[in-house]
Amino acid sequence: MSSTFGTVFRVTTFGESHGRGVGAVVDGCPPRLALAETDIQPQLDRRRPGQSGLSTPREESDKVSILSGVENGLTLGTPIGLFVPNRDQQPGDYAAMSRIPRPSHADWTYQVKYGIRASSGGGRSSARETIGRVAAGAIAEKLLKQHFGVEIVAWVSAVGAVEAPDLAGREITRPDVDAHAVRCPDAEAAQRMEAAIRQAREARDSTGGVITAICRGVPAGWGEPVFDKLEARLAQAMLSIPATKGFEIGSGFAGSRMLGSEHNDPFVMRKGRLGTATNRSGGVQGGISNGEPIVFRVAFKPPATIGKAQATVDFEGHAVELEATGRHDPCVVPRAVPIVEAMAALVLADAALAQCARS
Ligand SMILES: Cc1cc2nc3c(=O)[nH]c(=O)nc-3n(C[C@H](O)[C@H](O)[C@H](O)COP(=O)(O)O)c2cc1C
Repeated sequence: MSSTFGTVFRVTTFGESHGRGVGAVVDGCPPRLALAETDIQPQLDRRRPGQSGLSTPREESDKVSILSGVENGLTLGTPIGLFVPNRDQQPGDYAAMSRIPRPSHADWTYQVKYGIRASSGGGRSSARETIGRVAAGAIAEKLLKQHFGVEIVAWVSAVGAVEAPDLAGREITRPDVDAHAVRCPDAEAAQRMEAAIRQAREARDSTGGVITAICRGVPAGWGEPVFDKLEARLAQAMLSIPATKGFEIGSGFAGSRMLGSEHNDPFVMRKGRLGTATNRSGGVQGGISNGEPIVFRVAFKPPATIGKAQATVDFEGHAVELEATGRHDPCVVPRAVPIVEAMAALVLADAALAQCARS
């Protein structure tokens, strides 16, 4: 049910933040794809905590092991088991929070839903769950790159009120993105974003942000036309990432303020086939990719766990003041960049394989 994503390229994630470890089972990856841990580790390294002063100091090396589905460096077409152990657990950090549901976190909703919840660290609601997604997404990305020439790059385009200039028209690469710890390729904006995150951390507070992603080389024809529209699948994938609050593709909400004559993407003949002169559609029309780059944005809220005192109530309804302890991210977007890329890869790999069944 809720822990499985995809129809043909299917991924199930497992594990709690303070249990033995986390991971994923990937079922439906085609056979004979060259695959090793070294294909997966770089994206996990970009996601892991403790990378810079801008993220939680929890120290995890997040080293992945492939448990099954690969032999002599090639996928077998059987389920691929991926495992990452948890090491730096400090369950004591969460003692106060076992009595007090954190405002805007998932403690209360998990408790009402299941009548029980992981005793510390948020369990499945912790961002450690996304390790399985990032590992599986790295496999999907390799498949997309090798078989279809698709490339996905995401970057931080806003932190709080600090916005980067529009970079979607530039050929941004992952090294450009990683040139700054905040993962914004624009040097001037990156500096102001880093200052905003440090300021929030010093105030024992947190801040939100926006990630922009571009998927290049997606051929026309991927995505299903009714309920599984490509943008609907992307929206579901992105809004399943913890702390997300918004999804926009192409012109997004700004498109609602334009006239049709301003908004339409006129067709042009390009390299012997139809393309569009502008890309306000964000690469998807009628739920189906049109061959232009797929461009979307994802909004992340400020993380809920903050050291600053908050008036709230405990599970029994008694008024309390909560000052969260433990190690938390003051802003999640620098670490969420590879998670957005991974979820986009899972959607596109699934759409690619579904389209292969038709052609
Ligand atoms: C990379 C990443 C790191 C996160 N780190 C934290 C954190 O340190 N503290 C926190 O309260 N929430 C953090 N979150 C968000 C929570 O997991 C999330 O807010 C919580 O599960 C409640 O879900 P919701 O915000 O989607 O409703 C993080 C999210 C991501 C994507």
